Amino acid sequence: FIYLFAIYLFIYFRSKREPPVDKGMIPWLGHALEFGKDASKFINRMKVKHGDIFTVRVVGRYVTVLLDPHSYDTVLEDSGSLDFARYAQVLMERIFRLQLPHNQLAKSKEMMKRHFAGMNLAALNSTMSRNLHALLKAKAHRNQKDWKEEGLFDFSYSLLFKAGYLTLFGGEQNNNRTDPSTVYEEYKKFDGLLTKMARSTLKPEEKKTAQSVQKKLWELLAPAGLTDESGSSPWVHAYRRLLQEDGTDEEMQNRAMLMQLWSTQGNVGPAAFWLLGYLLTNPEALVAVRREFSQISQMETTTGTPLMDSQVNTPVFDSALEEALRLTAAPFITREVVREKILYMADGRQYLLRKGDRVCLFPYISPQMDPEIFHEPQKYKYDRFLKQDGSAKKDFYKGGRRLKYYTMPWGAGTNGCVGKQFAINTIRQFVYMVLTNYDLELCDPNAQMPEINASRYGFGMLQPEGDLPVRYKPRNAH
Ligand code: HEM
Ligand SMILES: *[C@@H]1O[C@H](CO)[C@@H](O)[C@H](O)[C@H]1NC(C)=O
Ligand SMILES: *[C@@H]1O[C@H](CO)[C@@H](O)[C@H](O)[C@H]1NC(C)=O
Ligand SMILES: *[C@@H]1O[C@H](CO)[C@@H](O)[C@H](O)[C@H]1NC(C)=O
Repeated sequence: FIYLFAIYLFIYFRSKREPPVDKGMIPWLGHALEFGKDASKFINRMKVKHGDIFTVRVVGRYVTVLLDPHSYDTVLEDSGSLDFARYAQVLMERIFRLQLPHNQLAKSKEMMKRHFAGMNLAALNSTMSRNLHALLKAKAHRNQKDWKEEGLFDFSYSLLFKAGYLTLFGGEQNNNRTDPSTVYEEYKKFDGLLTKMARSTLKPEEKKTAQSVQKKLWELLAPAGLTDESGSSPWVHAYRRLLQEDGTDEEMQNRAMLMQLWSTQGNVGPAAFWLLGYLLTNPEALVAVRREFSQISQMETTTGTPLMDSQVNTPVFDSALEEALRLTAAPFITREVVREKILYMADGRQYLLRKGDRVCLFPYISPQMDPEIFHEPQKYKYDRFLKQDGSAKKDFYKGGRRLKYYTMPWGAGTNGCVGKQFAINTIRQFVYMVLTNYDLELCDPNAQMPEINASRYGFGMLQPEGDLPVRYKPRNAH
């Protein structure tokens, strides 16, 4: 009896110690195909089957998915056992064919933090504002009387990409080498292949396209940060110097520039698109944001100073943006287990994480789309993050306990987004300029938001399938 009991204990103990494992039907590949097609649907299916922690096999790797937001801190705050850089380096190699010295990531991040805060951020805020103004003006002339039609996603992404490129990397309009439009065209092709590069699932002809687009982009970015004439920001100059000091050759430097182009430009345009799209398809939200902005623009006229590039309180806008990001920001927060670790969940359960496995948080499913936290989570409600008195609402609950993380579009912890303030300010300036200086409306007043492109779950901001046709003209043209 004691013997049997020991066996029982052993089996019980093992299965208790590790999260439930789901290997999938296909050997080695495991769940890779389902994962790539629609990761959110797949993870939801696993959640129904196994609960809020489980381990799946994907291309030979075991990935433990954790979906309890109360337990996220145990992962985010243990950078000793759960390493950010290793998986980041795998992706850098796959997407950018980039290898950098091991400590380079940490160094360049520290430098970046300095360049996107304080006085440096103020300077970036106003350069960005200038570039946005100029690009919008070039799109629609003051005396243009007719509507122009365009897809809202194209409109937002191209404008913000070009403004961001000019602000950070330099370059000038109509210069063959560095024209932002040329860079954008190439970048879009690259962006379309990005998820497949990350999963190593390019078809042979796509691989050729990817390589030639990469090469063009490396060439276009070659002048960035090299000379004073490049017009690059102090950050890009400093980054170039850092790479040179580390002995990185020129080819690798340009690859690193492309990685930075992606990490600084890949999410802002899509985020602005979703926000503007939700505003246009939710008239009461648009009215509320317009009202807040018009108060600011009245202050601007009376004081004579532009307020949108400095500190202004915009609680309605902030809530409208946070709600848009809740619905459309879907990054995986992935860490590699470099030391065996016991994961203590908030409810007292304990699980063993094996060295070599990966841990993945997917805040999109919970907290962001969790019906226990957000009533009717599929619906856009611009004032979800506002209290009755008009200030920001920050108390949200799950299982009766207040949540530290109720949305996570920027990640969190030591590896959270470095550019968050800059990104928010950019989107705010863009939406402000578009709504105060232009008439912008849906071509079809009854149009709905386009569907989400399901292949991009896990890669930051989602993108639409298709587009939302809009038309615009300068406001003062009659
Ligand atoms: C709407 C726009 C943006 C979104 C939604 C976003 C989202 C994120 C997320 C989720 C992470 C964390 C990844 C992780 O923990 O694994 C991250 C990291 C990062 N973001 Fe952003 N980001 C945005 C814009 C920007 C901009 C404009 C910049 C640069 C100025 C930037 C620079 C970075 C950097 C450098 C990191 C890496 C931090 C590290 O190495 O630990 N991001 N971002
Ligand atoms: C730049 O924009 C951010 C985001 O709106 C804001 O918080 C910050 O105060 C601005 N920085 C300066 C120094 O103007
Ligand atoms: C720009 O490109 C065009 C055609 O590709 C070429 O004729 C022209 O000389 C180039 N200009 C500069 C400044 O390089
Ligand atoms: C969805 O995204 C993928 C990857 O970016 C892209 O290849 C595909 O064309 C997109 N599909 C649609 C319908 O936009």
